[in-house]
Amino acid sequence: MRPAKDFFRPLAVGAPEPLREVPARPSRAIHFFDPSNPKMAAKVPDMVGTVDVLLGNLEDAVKADRKEAARAGLVEIAQATDFGPTQLWTRINALDSPWVLDDLTTLVTEIGDRLDVVMVPKVQGAEDIHYVDRLLAQLEAKAGLERPILVHAILETARGVANVEEICGASPRMQGLSLGPADLAADRRMKTTRVGGGHPGYLVREDPVLNADGVESRERATFQQDLWHYTIARMVDACAMHGIYPYYGPFGDIADEVACEDQFRNAFLLGCVGTWSLHPKQIAIANRVFSPSVEDIRHARRVVAAMGDGTGAVMLDGKMEDDASLKQCLVMVDLAEQLAA
Ligand code: GLV
Ligand code: MG
Repeated sequence: MRPAKDFFRPLAVGAPEPLREVPARPSRAIHFFDPSNPKMAAKVPDMVGTVDVLLGNLEDAVKADRKEAARAGLVEIAQATDFGPTQLWTRINALDSPWVLDDLTTLVTEIGDRLDVVMVPKVQGAEDIHYVDRLLAQLEAKAGLERPILVHAILETARGVANVEEICGASPRMQGLSLGPADLAADRRMKTTRVGGGHPGYLVREDPVLNADGVESRERATFQQDLWHYTIARMVDACAMHGIYPYYGPFGDIADEVACEDQFRNAFLLGCVGTWSLHPKQIAIANRVFSPSVEDIRHARRVVAAMGDGTGAVMLDGKMEDDASLKQCLVMVDLAEQLAA
């Protein structure tokens, strides 16, 4: 099944043709809400237009005895709200849970025409995506839906990371992947207790600085390292290979806006297109970080103009630009145009 061509376009102008094309719709912030929480649900209509994606969460963070209420709440909100430019996503319960079959059956039947993407947690391999793909196809056919619902997988088990390439290529419905640092840390038996972000114990220390007598002259500086670099880099490569989108994930320390911005920016620089938002103030951070800066766009456009037919090399501000730096600039220009559209 391949959705209508005009709904799709390549990941980046100038980039090699992806193996498949997914909608180039901005999704810098995927804002999570709990549809079983009436106070949170009441705020959803006012958030339309302020965020690229609103996601009704049915999985972790929703209490077991509120699962049905969350599912019913999402149906009610989706039916009552005009989402305009904002996409509506959901995170269903895990595939081995007692709730997931009812999640998919109810949501596709009741609000399948409004649902853009289904986020699937704890994906272990291609077989999980095949299962969801088949079920969605059956339910879509029964409901008479014409637009396919896309699938987004959370990378949050060691096995999922090992199988990341096959997960990305498991279905033309695959829209993207998110890092799930909390579950992944537990599955890997990492010794952390956080949801995303760094850790003060994960660091490198500079070599001793000795004075003339061979004695350490000052305390050695330490530098915190990024616990998530390896996984994000793997995820970005797998997504780029299959023409789908990589995302950071949750950053749980809501009060630490500076560290949140740092993590988001690292992910953006490494190739991610967006992240999750667990609190309205993280939407602004994500929108800022996952949009190219005015300076970057201006520079990228200068390189594009200077490179003429796109081949050869030119000097700009003392730096060499060539076919390859042009391709990087086109990624930036394409993203800016996509966000401005
Ligand atoms: C998200 O689901 C996570 O486990 O970090
Ligand atoms: Mg998780």
